[in-house]
Amino acid sequence: MQNTDTPDPDTPPAADTAARLTTQSIRSFVLRQGRMSPAQTRAYETLHPRYGLPYAAGALDFKRTFGRSAPVVLEIGFGMGETTARIAAALPRCDFLGLEVHAPGVGALFKLLDEGHLTNVRVIRHDAVEVVRDMIAPGSLAGIHIFFPDPWPKARHHKRRLVQARFVALLATRLAPGGYLHCATDWEEYGQQMLDVLSAEPLLENTAAAFAPRPDYRPLTKFENRGIRLGHRVCDVVFRRNNRVSAESGSDGTTPQGTA
Ligand SMILES: C[S@@+](CC[C@H](N)C(=O)[O-])C[C@H]1O[C@@H](n2cnc3c(N)ncnc32)[C@H](O)[C@@H]1O
Repeated sequence: MQNTDTPDPDTPPAADTAARLTTQSIRSFVLRQGRMSPAQTRAYETLHPRYGLPYAAGALDFKRTFGRSAPVVLEIGFGMGETTARIAAALPRCDFLGLEVHAPGVGALFKLLDEGHLTNVRVIRHDAVEVVRDMIAPGSLAGIHIFFPDPWPKARHHKRRLVQARFVALLATRLAPGGYLHCATDWEEYGQQMLDVLSAEPLLENTAAAFAPRPDYRPLTKFENRGIRLGHRVCDVVFRRNNRVSAESGSDGTTPQGTA
C-alpha cells in the first residue's frame, strides 16, 4: 500500500502547536537493535506492501488509504501489536492506523494481521509525533489509543513522556468533535500526569469523574494480568473532544473524510 498523497499547497500553515513540535520533537523512544525473529523478518518483508505505509509529509486521505469511509482510530506505540490485532478483529467497522518505531513489533503485527485475515489496519513505522503533525488532518480521527507508553520513571526523563501538554494539544486538534483520546498505564504517577494534562487541555473533556473504568474494547494483556496479580493499579484515562474551535485548524474541526 503506497501513500500517494502529496502535501496540499492549500493547507494553511501549521500554527502554534505543530510549529513548536517541528523544532522540538519528544525523544520518547530509544531505537533498540532488537533482533527480529525469522518469522517477523519474513512478515515484515512480504506484508509491508499490504499493511505498511511510508512516512510522507502530507495528510493521508483515509478513504484512499483504507479503501472505504469508516471511523479511523489511531494507535500510538503498539509494541508487538497483540492488542491492536484483537481490537481490529473485534471492531471490523472501524479502521486502525498503528504507529510504532520498533521493527520487530511491526513484523509481529503484520503476522497477526495476516493470520487473522484483517483488512482494517495500516501501519506506519515512524515517530508518532511527526506522523500526527504531518500526516493526520485536523478533525479527522474518531479515536486515539495510547496504551502503556514508556513510563520514563526518572524525573530527569519525564520530558520524554509522550503524554505531555504540547503533544496532547496537537492530538486534540486531530480528533473530530466527539472523538476520544484513551490513555492507559500501570505507572500510577504517570496515570496522574495523564489525568492532569488531559484535564488542562481546553479541547478535551473527561468522560469520567477522574480515572475511567477500562472500556470493554481494551483487552487485558498478559503483562497487565501479571501486574494486577502483583497489585499494580492500571489507570485508564478517557477524554472526548468538545466542539470548541481549534486555534490550529481555524475551522470547526469537522472531518474532511467524514470519518467520525
Ligand atoms: C512500553 S511499550 C507498550 C507497547 C504496547 N502499547 C503495550 O501495551 O504492550 C511502548 C511502545 O511505544 C513505542 N514508542 C515510543 N515512542 C514512540 C513514538 N514517538 N512513535 C512511535 N512509537 C513509539 C515504543 O517503541 C514501544 O514499543
